[in-house]
Amino acid sequence: MTVAIQGLPAFFQPIYLDSVTSTNDDVKHRARDGAPEGTLVVAGEQRAGRGRAGREWTSKPGNLYMSLLLRPQCDAPTAAQISFLAAIALSSAIAQLGPDLAPVHKWPNDVLIDGAKISGILLESSARSGGGVDWLVLGMGVNVAHHPVDAGQAATSLHAQGVSDCTPATLLAVLAPGLLHWLEVWQSGGFAPLRHAWLARAGGLDGPIRVRLPKEEFTGIFRDLDDNGSLLVEQTGGTLRTITAGEVFLPPT
Ligand code: BTN
Repeated sequence: MTVAIQGLPAFFQPIYLDSVTSTNDDVKHRARDGAPEGTLVVAGEQRAGRGRAGREWTSKPGNLYMSLLLRPQCDAPTAAQISFLAAIALSSAIAQLGPDLAPVHKWPNDVLIDGAKISGILLESSARSGGGVDWLVLGMGVNVAHHPVDAGQAATSLHAQGVSDCTPATLLAVLAPGLLHWLEVWQSGGFAPLRHAWLARAGGLDGPIRVRLPKEEFTGIFRDLDDNGSLLVEQTGGTLRTITAGEVFLPPT
């Protein structure tokens, strides 16, 4: 089934493919071949969709699978902030499509509804020799029509949440302008406005959180994000611990 992608802001150069291994892989190849910033690949299905930490991302038809090519003029740690703006744009799009829904952010870039994951964001980038980022692929998967039931964590979809008339194309029509808006906010204002917007929808702020690191797991109170997007967790005794990478778990809502 071919989906026409129309009406996106001129920044986006959309390409629709019925079936790919992974939209991230497709855009990475295009990036290496010199494709311009704004190249956007949307697929009807992925045969080998990838999630964070090498996990599989189940990608049957009906959900949104997209990857956007960016060429940010900054170093890799700064470019990683793009995952926050993607989560903000997505939660805003969900709130627009389903005004009764209350999407929340879970660090670093998940969007949850009623404690269940509705999307995944995967950034992949290549360093420029001599410093900086050559290209960055922002991959986003959003559960529109269905969600996995055996993913090891609760998942949901827009249809399951009652937004039953939503399609990948209608979601993209709302999401793309939001992505462009937040990209421009980030480029002109840095991380500060993103931090503010992300925290406004943060799940579990000032409540208990469990943090899993490669060699350690601990609980604390989720207090804040720092100026770079690291998670600040208060430990027993009141010390703040800065988490730059890891997995977090919020208590059931
Ligand atoms: C996660 O583990 O939460 C991230 C999942 C990212 C999935 C998207 S779907 C589009 C793009 N292509 C991929 O292979 N992965 C990302």
